[in-house]
Amino acid sequence: MNAPVRATVAFQELIGSVRQHWANQLYPALHERYREIDRGGTPAMTEQAIAQVAETPLYQWFAFIERHYQRMKYSDPRWGLAASFESQPNWVSERLAAAESSPYLELNADLDIPDYYREIDIHQHPGNLIGADYDGLMYRASATSIHPNTRRFEAHERFADTVLAHRRFRSVLNMGCGFGKCTLPIAARLPEARVIGIDLSAPCLRLAAATLADTTLTNTRFAQRDALRSGYADGSFDLVTSTQLLHELPVEDIQRVLRESFRLLEPGGEVMHLDFRPRGRWMEFLLDGHAVRNNEGFMPAFNRVDMHEALREAGFVDIAIEPFAETEGATRPDWPYWRFPWTLFRAVKPL
Ligand SMILES: C[S@@+](CC[C@H](N)C(=O)[O-])C[C@H]1O[C@@H](n2cnc3c(N)ncnc32)[C@H](O)[C@@H]1O
Repeated sequence: MNAPVRATVAFQELIGSVRQHWANQLYPALHERYREIDRGGTPAMTEQAIAQVAETPLYQWFAFIERHYQRMKYSDPRWGLAASFESQPNWVSERLAAAESSPYLELNADLDIPDYYREIDIHQHPGNLIGADYDGLMYRASATSIHPNTRRFEAHERFADTVLAHRRFRSVLNMGCGFGKCTLPIAARLPEARVIGIDLSAPCLRLAAATLADTTLTNTRFAQRDALRSGYADGSFDLVTSTQLLHELPVEDIQRVLRESFRLLEPGGEVMHLDFRPRGRWMEFLLDGHAVRNNEGFMPAFNRVDMHEALREAGFVDIAIEPFAETEGATRPDWPYWRFPWTLFRAVKPL
């Protein structure tokens, strides 16, 4: 490893430790402060308590770290991920080489990319996920420090376990698959099934295909398609799924994705979308702040969508909206650390 790379690794480790400190020390202190002030009275008292907490130096510091350490992780001019990948084009192309000839990858340079996707540097990722060849690699590197109290990609592994425990699906569509973090664990657990991951981001799909090439799986395909209009035939799948896609869509597109999920399912097929759902005003307040600080502009509107009604309107029955533990014990009411309020939205297309 040469010196600039070592310095980058050290810097990124520092960012990871600050994220740990933020989640495991700052957040509990902030929550404690809120609980001291909010005596659990009326909604108006809760609003007052939140407004008071928002003025404290502790909250300002919490918010500063959330925004600026994520920004530095990506965009620090010397040691940020963008600078690091930018300076190693050969390493990037070698890492993605397997994707270039992959029979399991379908790219579409003419795909109409929606405006919302071009205009927002989501998660503060410079240029979103369609700017540079290394965007998939950069997203993967960044994703490793976002959920500090979990093992690497544990939420997605556990989601794949949930899918497997539910039913032995035969034909699975994973919408907004990114670099395959969830597609590949599902494909590994259902080797007899046909599994397709779709996304708008060619760099992410390239990384997904290169990662697939390192496995023995032959049941998986990745395709550059829009989840709002995927182009697959009616009834092509018995499971349509996504992880962390819904909160990234403009609110009117959430309903479109649910309708598209419904169309793509065979009768009796199931939808399982994993995302976030705050329970209670305190968490809603924190996620509203997170949305601003991390450029997740559609998240507040998503948090207020009546998902039960949205799924019903799309035609689904047997609707269940359940807290999801991204690691053992995380949904316990006394879990002390910061966590996203992971939630599984599932439903069935009637026979
Ligand atoms: C937060 S990332 C989640 C990625 C992956 N599912 C995971 O959990 O790691 C959201 C993903 O949705 C993709 N995406 C956003 N809008 C999309 C759309 N209309 N069609 C397909 N993918 C979309 C993004 O490119 C990104 O990869």
